[in-house]
Amino acid sequence: MAEQHLKIFDTTLRDGEQSPGASMTREEKVRIAKGLERMRVDVLEAGFPAASRGDFDSVRAVAEAVRESRVCALARTREADIHAAGEALAEAEAGRIHTFIATSPIHMQNKLQMSPEEVVDAAVRAVGLARQLCDDVEFSAEDAGRSDGEFLCRIIEAAIDAGATTINIPDTVGYNVPEQFGGLIRSLRERIPNADKAVFSVHCHNDLGLAVANSLAAVHAGARQVECTVNGLGERAGNAALEEVVMAVRTRQDVFDCQTRVNTREIVPTSKLVANITGFHVQPNKAIVGVNAFAHESGIHQDGVLKHRETYEIMRAEDVGWHTNRMVLGKHSGRNAFRSRLEELDIHIDSEEQLNEAFARFKTLADKKHEIFDEDLQALVTEAGAAL
Ligand code: KIV
Ligand code: ZN
Repeated sequence: MAEQHLKIFDTTLRDGEQSPGASMTREEKVRIAKGLERMRVDVLEAGFPAASRGDFDSVRAVAEAVRESRVCALARTREADIHAAGEALAEAEAGRIHTFIATSPIHMQNKLQMSPEEVVDAAVRAVGLARQLCDDVEFSAEDAGRSDGEFLCRIIEAAIDAGATTINIPDTVGYNVPEQFGGLIRSLRERIPNADKAVFSVHCHNDLGLAVANSLAAVHAGARQVECTVNGLGERAGNAALEEVVMAVRTRQDVFDCQTRVNTREIVPTSKLVANITGFHVQPNKAIVGVNAFAHESGIHQDGVLKHRETYEIMRAEDVGWHTNRMVLGKHSGRNAFRSRLEELDIHIDSEEQLNEAFARFKTLADKKHEIFDEDLQALVTEAGAAL
């Protein structure tokens, strides 16, 4: 089957900013937007213009600055929200209005206090109005992951008829599990008569740590847009992490019949930019972008990687924007990694005996210190030479 395009819709500037404590200034948002553009994301959601004057200005500034990615603005189904989104996007090279309304019983009854009929009407009116302002319109059924399947089919069919070009299925509270969520996407695509007139998208939250797994199950079931954020930022436990989705699809081409257009070498620089601006630092063992993601400490692993990288690496550090993989010298490291690091540092050992002596000293030191640095190695070898 021909490989299809999987769109990456980044919402770091909108849902990501909803992480408590992660708010960004307009200038910071433009810097991140330029990083996302360099990374070649297809769509970047710049904000929610009706939320505040500041958000409106930020969306406008991003729309003016970005030329290569489509810039999206969020709007509830209210007329004023949709007009604000349209106005904020006026200067965009390519814009998208993203309108949403909740479709789950708990949200319709308690939050919206609207009947299902009223919700369908609101969605249809909002999509129709948005289409008058922009030829690219996304509709989201908020809390789709806890909505009734029949009702979802009804509202989505109506939204597509009203002009929605992308249909987004959010697991707003991260309640779904992969098999079920993939099944939901498959069944919606099969049951909705006009489903082929829109791109199906997913937007998964990470409350159970399943956001990426659910997104990938949806891709397997035919979703062709994934909404995600850099470093997995986002409301509560966050959204699906962009870097994980992109690298999973790229690394497992044997499983997915689609590919993203992301320039993966920009992943780590963009992750660092977002971390520095938001102050949300990345945990060391975070997949792809954590400092330990391509580091090896155990002697067995180091020996394997030195003989053939693929013994313990399924991706190349350089492909995601790290300078290289890393051999960390610590108490689990072996002679081979020790010797290799000395060679890299141009430290010459005269004899095997001297190497053994230096390695023994290294092991003693490593029991006391978490990581052995290059200066420690230099000192060890000098001492070993002196002791012999
Ligand atoms: O989580 C969610 O449902 C959202 C929508 C606005 C797409 O963020
Ligand atoms: Zn969300």
